[in-house]
Amino acid sequence: MKCVRRPGLPLLALSAISIWVVTACSGIPQAPDAAGIDSRFPANWSPKGVSMEMKKILEYGALAPNSHNAQMWGVRVSSADEITVLFNPARALPAVDPKNRESMISIGAFIENLVEAARAYGMASTVSVIAHEATDEKIATIRFTATGDESSKPTLEDIAERHTIRTPFLAKELSDRDLAALRSVGGEIAYFPLATPQGRYLREAIVQSMEKQVDNDAQEAEFADWVRLNDKEARQSHDGLTWTAMGLSGIKRWFASTFIDRRALMSKSFRGQTVETVKAQASSCAGFVVVSSPDNSVESLIDAGRVLERFWLAATRLKIAVHPMSSALEERPWNEELAGRVGVGPEVQMLLRVGYVKDYGGPDSLRIEVPIEE
Ligand SMILES: Cc1cc2nc3c(=O)[nH]c(=O)nc-3n(C[C@H](O)[C@H](O)[C@H](O)COP(=O)(O)O)c2cc1C
Repeated sequence: MKCVRRPGLPLLALSAISIWVVTACSGIPQAPDAAGIDSRFPANWSPKGVSMEMKKILEYGALAPNSHNAQMWGVRVSSADEITVLFNPARALPAVDPKNRESMISIGAFIENLVEAARAYGMASTVSVIAHEATDEKIATIRFTATGDESSKPTLEDIAERHTIRTPFLAKELSDRDLAALRSVGGEIAYFPLATPQGRYLREAIVQSMEKQVDNDAQEAEFADWVRLNDKEARQSHDGLTWTAMGLSGIKRWFASTFIDRRALMSKSFRGQTVETVKAQASSCAGFVVVSSPDNSVESLIDAGRVLERFWLAATRLKIAVHPMSSALEERPWNEELAGRVGVGPEVQMLLRVGYVKDYGGPDSLRIEVPIEE
């Protein structure tokens, strides 16, 4: 694939922008309430045959973290108290995630948000994973039962406030109290401070796998396809990675949306800067969190996504920044050796950079209407 920079785009500026693209996510803080989340969805979304309450629950569900913000989920409303969660392969990421592992984890996070949001609206949920393969359309059913207890409303604020933070984090260690609160969410979670041998290994694994990944044209092109280059593209799609979601504001954002095109995203200098940025990110944090599972079955991947989201919501409450860094789980040999090298597993599903930050910022990535099948 030929990689050319748009004529007239200064190299320095391109390099600087590629740093922001990968690193920053300061964003514009939004009110963590229903009005705040509505603005992240297309206007005038009024799904037929769905109560206002269920619409709200689906919106909170869709604020889940997901690879490339591709939002590869959907639902079928089977009855007033049951939905089926669906996988939309048209939004999968075949180059970077050929086995749909990350898609299933993303759908797991979506399910966790649905369960938490339903609880806040006074409903208990029973989740049954029904998929056998990570290519199946029907992933899980959720049955809702009224409890009348709406005392967990604050969770909605955490869901609305949660976001990926890509700026450098402080070197400060996580406090024992915060670690205990994070561990209390359950699941197979291990924490490795950066200064430990495992922490240093994870940092190197992230950097080296990224060096390999930027040489993969198919993966880079897939990433470029999910970047929304300007307001028009962002408004039309309501998905993917906008400049704002990637942390650009003011003149930098204007510059990017005016001069950067997809060919520039594929350029050698952009790829080189991506590696430099990842090096800086992986070196500036308290440490890394690893989410493991017993195997790679769909059930375990959905579970890992649910654990990821529970962990992230707890971190949001504590103002601890979270940044998934997945290259080491996507590339050989790191994805094969990582579990043994740090003593977790058997399967590692998520690798997260964590730490305190000066400015926690706020969410600003957009969401599509949750696809609802008849
Ligand atoms: C399975 C999974 C893998 C991810 N991998 C990365 C990654 O390697 N690098 C990164 O910057 N963000 C990664 N993310 C974060 C997503 O890009 C992010 O959740 C999405 O763009 C939506 O933004 P938000 O989290 O701010 O809502 C990952 C998220 C998930 C669920």
